[in-house]
Amino acid sequence: MAIWTPDLSGRSGPRYLQIVAALSEDIASGRLGPGDRLPPHRDLAYRLALSPNTTSRAYAEAVERALIRGEVGRGTFVRGPAPAIQAVATASLHRAHSGPIDLSRNLPPPGLAGDKLAQTCAELGRSSSLAALADYQTEAEVERHAKAAGTWLRRHGVASGDDETLVTAGAQHAIFCALMALTGPGDLLLTEELTYQPVRPMAARLGLKTAAIASDGEGPCPDDLDRLCRQRQVKALYLTPTLQTPTGLTMPFERRQAIAGIVARYGVHLIEDDVFGLFHPERPPPIATLAPDLTVFITSVSKYLAPGLRVGFVHAPSRLASLIRSAVNLTCWMTPPLTAEIVSRWIDDGTADDLIARHRAAASHRHGLARRILGAETVGDRPAGLHLWLDLPAGWSADLFSARAAERNVLVTPGAAFAMAPRAGAASVRVCLGHEADIERLETGLRVLRALLDAGPAGAPLIL
Ligand SMILES: Cc1ncc(COP(=O)(O)O)c(C=O)c1O
Repeated sequence: MAIWTPDLSGRSGPRYLQIVAALSEDIASGRLGPGDRLPPHRDLAYRLALSPNTTSRAYAEAVERALIRGEVGRGTFVRGPAPAIQAVATASLHRAHSGPIDLSRNLPPPGLAGDKLAQTCAELGRSSSLAALADYQTEAEVERHAKAAGTWLRRHGVASGDDETLVTAGAQHAIFCALMALTGPGDLLLTEELTYQPVRPMAARLGLKTAAIASDGEGPCPDDLDRLCRQRQVKALYLTPTLQTPTGLTMPFERRQAIAGIVARYGVHLIEDDVFGLFHPERPPPIATLAPDLTVFITSVSKYLAPGLRVGFVHAPSRLASLIRSAVNLTCWMTPPLTAEIVSRWIDDGTADDLIARHRAAASHRHGLARRILGAETVGDRPAGLHLWLDLPAGWSADLFSARAAERNVLVTPGAAFAMAPRAGAASVRVCLGHEADIERLETGLRVLRALLDAGPAGAPLIL
């Protein structure tokens, strides 16, 4: 690899922070990878015509932010991804009934679809279509599942024609296929400052650059989005406007309109991820309805039926839908026909409606429990989704709080795991309410978090 030199053009603020920001962006975009060696700080100072004090301060700050590590006698190296990001790729999603109480994974409560699944599998076993479902599907058969997908998408408020509708192997697969279809190496993808964790490694795998839009209490700031689109060649934008991952925010209608207007002005493609949309009864209409020519709308059954079915749905204007279809073919030929069939039957016979209602009720029950234990002021008045975002009281950092919780056998995710901008989420953690099967374990976990908040960092010392 060529010797790394940060691009400081167009940056403002203290020079050492400019270097840290460039370093962080280059790591996020994949230009620098884990283990890459950085030039000694004196060489870097010479190349940038700065004082060695400035580059040394930049490296010290980057070590502090866990971007790089120094090895005595060997040099300075880019660190591996944060543990939570590594975990996306490697950890098991299996739910344990003992061991640490895991409030770090965003899954629905398990088992609600179990009985119905057994019944549908038995019906399929007796039906003559089973053998055909074990085979590759014809276009016509795939279209039958896409019709059911259209019915599901209407629940999200999106009217999708046959040539605009796709079935994927879950929302994650859909996001990756949309990125493959809309972008090429070197393109710039915008996200919020805090975003769904896998988007960052996906962008890195596809050789994309990333930049974060500044946010306020209503979502991404239109002014900052406009500035980025004006100053840089933006290719695509990824957003979760309803019950945002990880903050739980829902963008109001006016903000959605503003974003749609900017997207249309600059011809930027939007990937709108609405996997949590149905948990919010009064959500505003999707941005896909406001910028229909440029938006790829994504959802899945994971949070409402069962995540193991691996079925997701995409609505996109037909010219984009065919590009995404090629990406689906390239990555898995087709969504497994058997699970697509189960989901299609459930959509057609009303089972899906019933399971959505049951998952909403379960989320509402767990959310109520969290409000009672953590307090309304901590939980906020957002609708009952599957995750909470806790802004920690002064004195706590997210890393310290997560570490203290883990020592007490409770796992939460520090905000930095979702960060696309330096320091984003540094004093917040995400708490997931659905992963633990046993409600008593969830309750115990929440009580541990409440006790930590009450004690404060000084009153909750390290447990050895
Ligand atoms: C915002 C967001 N998008 C996509 C996904 C992936 O969903 P799926 O299981 O359908 O791939 C998740 C899962 O947690 C998510 O939180």
